[in-house]
Amino acid sequence: MSSIPVRLGILGCGNVGAALVKIILEDQSLIESQTGEVLEIAAISVRDLSIERPAWVPRELLTLDPFSVVTDPSIDIVVEVMGGYDPAKALIEEALRAKKSVVTANKTLLSDFGEELSELARSQGRDIFFEAAVAGGIPLIRSLKVSLAAERVRRVTGIVNGTTNYILTRMSEDGTSYQDALKSAQELGYAEADPTADVGGIDASAKAAILASIAFGRKVQYGDVYREGITSVTLDDFAFAKRHGFTLKLLAICEWIEGKDGEEGSVSVRVHPTMVALTHPLSAVREAFNAIFVEGDSVGELMFYGRGAGGLPTASAVLGDIIDAAHNLRYGSTERHVARPAAQILPFDELDYQFYIAIDVSDRPGVLAQVATVFGANGVSIMSMEQVGLGQEARLIFITHQAKERAVQMTLAEVRELGAVRRLVGFIRVLGNGSAQG
Ligand SMILES: NC(=O)c1ccc[n+]([C@@H]2O[C@H](COP(=O)([O-])OP(=O)(O)OC[C@H]3O[C@@H](n4cnc5c(N)ncnc54)[C@H](OP(=O)(O)O)[C@@H]3O)[C@@H](O)[C@H]2O)c1
Repeated sequence: MSSIPVRLGILGCGNVGAALVKIILEDQSLIESQTGEVLEIAAISVRDLSIERPAWVPRELLTLDPFSVVTDPSIDIVVEVMGGYDPAKALIEEALRAKKSVVTANKTLLSDFGEELSELARSQGRDIFFEAAVAGGIPLIRSLKVSLAAERVRRVTGIVNGTTNYILTRMSEDGTSYQDALKSAQELGYAEADPTADVGGIDASAKAAILASIAFGRKVQYGDVYREGITSVTLDDFAFAKRHGFTLKLLAICEWIEGKDGEEGSVSVRVHPTMVALTHPLSAVREAFNAIFVEGDSVGELMFYGRGAGGLPTASAVLGDIIDAAHNLRYGSTERHVARPAAQILPFDELDYQFYIAIDVSDRPGVLAQVATVFGANGVSIMSMEQVGLGQEARLIFITHQAKERAVQMTLAEVRELGAVRRLVGFIRVLGNGSAQG
């Protein structure tokens, strides 16, 4: 045990930064007794000094100059909780070059530059930790990096965006429309005024890239992730799901596909709305909670569940990183570094899925046969079919057997050309009992 304080420079004092300051100041003796570390906040950088801060934030530590924080020789660890690329990236680089360890919660930055920043940390003999960047308070990154370090992880399937999970829960449980559920999410502070990053799957894709990089030991970036958001999910999709033992979730799916004949394996990373069987543990994750289902060769199935956002849960993860970084600085060590070569990304259209497809057609004899013929001609086999009368029109709803994405897209393109077909009203991939690939 040592009582030499570890000095922290905190960049940002918003939701996460202010919560972190609160925990450090209020739980000082608990932190020292449980970890042996004494944490001292040396400076807190913000953008605007005139903003009112919570009462516990020491005014005298606030500064408008983040670069003075990262270059201050008395500071040991820089905690970046400001978000965005600029100036966060330059500040983290400057901090590492100045031989400080870095803790960040910045998924946006890490999903593009994670490997680059880890390399820089390695070259400087320092750490960059980012437990809070994926799934907020859930201790997931460290579990993947440390506890599962030597595990062949096959698949990581996660609900990693609380806002969309809240919206989908309202639609599923109360029959609330997408627009009203979004409004409710905004009123509760779950969604931003501009909700695109959440509902468009952008936030989940950034997290998926980070998860895949760590789970598979390969560099995966945001641009490698196939992405669809939840804006086209309808209450009719939920009604069908309910009748057939499914619910709908926005899933981030990271998968390792073994190479053939000794060739390097490939990685698939995608984010899209998914029909999840009610027997799958992820179907039970409600409201704004996050959960990540991990499948590995030896460990089998694991599930991590908790709060993926919020000031205090996220600050709790940041604090865990600070303690690790402080420990390593004290003992002159760093976390285990292994370079991650670029992943070979499996093209999305080569994946196999089951599909839910709903098509509105003119209600006249022979139309179903025409549609079914197109499915058959493309090798897409139908597992179940339902027909619902809509006056002059009928809705044909199919669940397919496993089929290639490419074959299904070709099927849909041809089906749209049929004279009797009015519109495609539902198209969602189906996750069965724990597997996206059969
Ligand atoms: N909130 C969550 O639940 C959550 C969960 C997981 C990860 N994260 C990540 O944690 C980070 C922080 O999130 P947050 O919700 O705390 O954000 P926030 O509430 O918007 O706070 C950002 C803070 O950074 C400061 N800041 C922003 N740009 C700056 C600049 N150019 N120079 C100096 N200071 C600047 C702001 O200063 P002012 O206060 O003066 O405006 C503010 O204090 C982000 O990377 C986010 O993705 C957040």
